Amino acid sequence: MAREARKIAVIGAGNVGATCAFVMAERKLGEIVLLDIYEGFAKGKALDMSQGGQVLNYDGKITGTSDYEDIAGSDVVVVTSGFPRQPGMSREDLIGKNAEIILQVGTGIRDYAPDAVVIMVTNPLDLMTYHMQKVTGFPSNRVIGQAGILDSARMTHFVSEAIGCSNEDVQAMVLGGHGDTMVPLPRYTTVGGIPITQLLDEKTIDSISKRTASGGGEIVKLLERGSAFYAPGSAAAIMAESVLNDRKRMLPCSALLNGEYGLKDVYIGVPVILGKNGVERIIELDLENEELDSLQESANFYKSQLSEILGY
Ligand code: LAC
Repeated sequence: MAREARKIAVIGAGNVGATCAFVMAERKLGEIVLLDIYEGFAKGKALDMSQGGQVLNYDGKITGTSDYEDIAGSDVVVVTSGFPRQPGMSREDLIGKNAEIILQVGTGIRDYAPDAVVIMVTNPLDLMTYHMQKVTGFPSNRVIGQAGILDSARMTHFVSEAIGCSNEDVQAMVLGGHGDTMVPLPRYTTVGGIPITQLLDEKTIDSISKRTASGGGEIVKLLERGSAFYAPGSAAAIMAESVLNDRKRMLPCSALLNGEYGLKDVYIGVPVILGKNGVERIIELDLENEELDSLQESANFYKSQLSEILGY
């Protein structure tokens, strides 16, 4: 029997969703359905992207819709719907509005793509990922948040600039929540296997960590309208690829913890193995007291937001 093409749904055809879909199309990951409440917006972007296939040599089916029925049978669903921040806003300022959107999107996914692995991008990321897992009722390994790849990519960029080396040789590690409490880990950030603590002075490392933690805000301020999308959309596509091709890449992602790092019932950024089942393993790093304190502080901040604002 002929094997059907893998199917990927991207919810939200805005800048992040469209970038993610475009990267996945170029990587020939499978059939792509772009869903947006504005049907023409989704259809227009899908048609534009399909025509780009001739230029860039990809040919998978890309369609646009506003109907959840069309995501039926998706192997992976990437969720980008929601409002982006404006200058002066924190990601947490988006909770109320985006929680309502995630309730609607999550219900559509639960009803029409019950076997999918869900990759969340909507902010505030760790809170919306938790919310999505509750709304869908999916096992937690199948609901994962994108943030660590983006935050690590930002750190990688700053490290490669400071050292004057290719970013291909830099491996950065950023854990914790996708917000002001994120935890860049210089001890676990290496260039060609050498920790950056041996290559850069403390002051430079400190300023790289700070710039990484406020990396999204720096772009929001520059853009004046909306937030980053090339790196966030590409990062979500790379997660989808690891799931669809069962690559088992080790990537920092927002995952539901159940005792790891002394934390429970909270989504937070940690290194995981990503394969066809979604999160197949959570890696527990050997952290120093100060690093562990920062991670726990970050998680506790989100725990309080979950109960105080979202009522969990
Ligand atoms: C950022 C947004 C997408 O960090 O959270 O750019």
